[in-house]
Amino acid sequence: MLQKQRKLILNPQQQESMRRAGRVNATLMDFIRPHVQAGISTGKIDEMVFQWTLDNGHKPATLGYQNYPKSCCTSVNEVICHGIPDDYVLQDGDIVNLDITTIVDGWHGDQSETFLIGDVSEERRAVTQCAFDCMYLAIDALTPGCTVALIGETIVPEAHRRGFSVVREYVGHGLGRQFHLDPSIPHFPNRQSRIDRLYPGMCFTVEPMINAGTRYARCDKSDGWTVRTKDGRPSAQFEQTVMMTENGAEILTGCKDGPQKGHQF
Ligand code: MF3
Ligand code: CO
Ligand code: CO
Repeated sequence: MLQKQRKLILNPQQQESMRRAGRVNATLMDFIRPHVQAGISTGKIDEMVFQWTLDNGHKPATLGYQNYPKSCCTSVNEVICHGIPDDYVLQDGDIVNLDITTIVDGWHGDQSETFLIGDVSEERRAVTQCAFDCMYLAIDALTPGCTVALIGETIVPEAHRRGFSVVREYVGHGLGRQFHLDPSIPHFPNRQSRIDRLYPGMCFTVEPMINAGTRYARCDKSDGWTVRTKDGRPSAQFEQTVMMTENGAEILTGCKDGPQKGHQF
């Protein structure tokens, strides 16, 4: 266990590589954000993500990952995660999570944002706000050497207080030269997360998925990817790649534009 954790601690040069990957990924999010509007198809967003990534000399991590067919995930309304971009045209009232992951010189940056398209229902707005706030609450709670469980211990009470639920089947993850590494970062406390610790030099994601209704998820059998809420009520998510430092968690995928910590949707 100790061995496994030690390997994930990056040296200063590797830390710089992760900072760069995070920066590139955030720049892509800033580039694409103005296009995420009513009238655009999720497939068109994917095309633009693909083109920008290649034009800048990088690779979309999801393309071909376990046979995933696209360069990003677009998860609309009741879709929790892993929605596959297609010809669906975003419309007024939708919420859509855009999750992008870039490989920059072999290192990964991974982040997502939920967008409100035009005027959305109060439930869709509130679940988006909850996912946003839970992500920052958890990131701000982290201290060097803390347990991974601190993330879930921060998020679950906050989501429940607002009448929402926390997805358990899908979790955050360590990342670096690989997309998904140990430790697993559940957004609820469990046995393993009470053991795993976050030491300076470790990189991982915080990416809570918050549901308006039941926490239970169902994966679409026909495409093998799209994960929906069992009750069809909305779900929202935000994700940042962070690095633990001697001073706490440093966000590597922070954007120049878009909603900043404390934003009210
Ligand atoms: N970006 C997602 C994450 O945050 C993973 C997407 S994997 C895919 O971990 F294959 F569905 F694209
Ligand atoms: Co992601
Ligand atoms: Co991730």
